[in-house]
Amino acid sequence: MNREKIEQTLVLVKPDALKNSLTGYVLSQLSEFHTGLRFAGAKIACVSRMLAEEHYAEHRGKVFYPSLIEYIMGLLHYPDAPERRRIIALVYQGPDAVQKIRDICGPTNPHVAREKRPGCIRALGTVVPLKDAAGNDVGERMDNLIHASAADDEAEREIKLWFRPGDFPPFMRSYLTEINKEEHYYFKDNNLYMTHEPGSVCLIAPGDVVWKSDFDVLRSMQQGLPAAAPLASVAAKYLINYTAE
Ligand code: GTP
Ligand code: MG
Repeated sequence: MNREKIEQTLVLVKPDALKNSLTGYVLSQLSEFHTGLRFAGAKIACVSRMLAEEHYAEHRGKVFYPSLIEYIMGLLHYPDAPERRRIIALVYQGPDAVQKIRDICGPTNPHVAREKRPGCIRALGTVVPLKDAAGNDVGERMDNLIHASAADDEAEREIKLWFRPGDFPPFMRSYLTEINKEEHYYFKDNNLYMTHEPGSVCLIAPGDVVWKSDFDVLRSMQQGLPAAAPLASVAAKYLINYTAE
């Protein structure tokens, strides 16, 4: 079921927040009492490289990108404990959701957050120097505890990247959906298949409710036409908690 557009935003409670037992603090800062916003979706996710790279696609090529990917995957905070590598993904809905939550998070850089917005969530974060193999400074990493969508269109892309329609109560799905009537869509090694291949994963089966925009991408690919988004941006959410990598 699709309803009139309601503003919503994606929040990720990042591995450093989980490691430092700040989850309860973060959730209480974002509570309906403080923000007037409601939970629509929630999941605990082991972040695969494919999901991390899609989430932070806009930063590909930047000097801090490799460490950003390792950070969100939990590789840096739990190097020896793969079973603890996870984040909490949340969707909040309500008026002015994007801006309200960005304000509570505060500036990206925890040093700046402490100076300019004492009391914001990211004021509790840290900045970690990055070194190359020879030990030279090559920049820094911002461990800032929380992600929040920066704009409406970003929120839509991110929510569809992390959540399937079935992750939401029917009245809280605010993007267009479609029911897949006939086809099976399988995924393996970043390729799409319409029949089962050994080692492939079935992403979507007949009867499944799918984001319409994802369906458009799959149909274009199936027909050999240019698609509006990469296959990984559709497949990644179906593989959440299926594989670690
Ligand atoms: P997110 O909510 O995590 O998306 O942060 P943001 O929207 O405040 O910032 P942005 O999307 O620009 O960057 C995503 C993440 O990349 C940040 O949370 C930082 O960890 C990291 N990052 C962004 N800009 C820089 C930078 O200039 N230097 C470094 N070292 N890290 C950065
Ligand atoms: Mg951002």
